[in-house]
Amino acid sequence: MTFDNIKRNILLISEGVEYEVTALSNIAAYIYENMIDVNWVGFYILRDGKLILGPFQGKVACTEIELGHGVCGRSAKADEPIVVPNVHNYGDYISCDPETMSEIVFPIYKNGKLYGVLDIDSATVDRFHGQNNEGLVEVAYGISMVLDKTKA
Ligand code: SME
Repeated sequence: MTFDNIKRNILLISEGVEYEVTALSNIAAYIYENMIDVNWVGFYILRDGKLILGPFQGKVACTEIELGHGVCGRSAKADEPIVVPNVHNYGDYISCDPETMSEIVFPIYKNGKLYGVLDIDSATVDRFHGQNNEGLVEVAYGISMVLDKTKA
């Protein structure tokens, strides 16, 4: 499935959904089901100055991440995507699943303000590169469009 289709279908399955948690739960499930070679897909949401675990698919994960720590905390603080080709070479990586080898994290916005991050992990080294990332930026943009229309 192309990222264009993933984005379009995320908008479709979120149509008329009233609450953020409902929309994000189905979005995490949809991405997890439709991306090849991923082992964790989920959201960390900015609340009380830290990131808290949001809707996800995959193994049990750490519940809170300080801003500026780990890949998620750094992506949120810098307000930019981070790609980690090999987590074993990333000094500040917070390991939740020993099988995870690479990951990509994107900031997500609601009404133009940072809402949290989308974290996608893979058991394959260097899973996220090149064109993948541009497509995923579009997916992240679609998620922000959904958040704009839903309430807490
Ligand atoms: N990898 C993240 C922690 C969350 S888990 O991967 C689900 C990080 O270092 O920010």
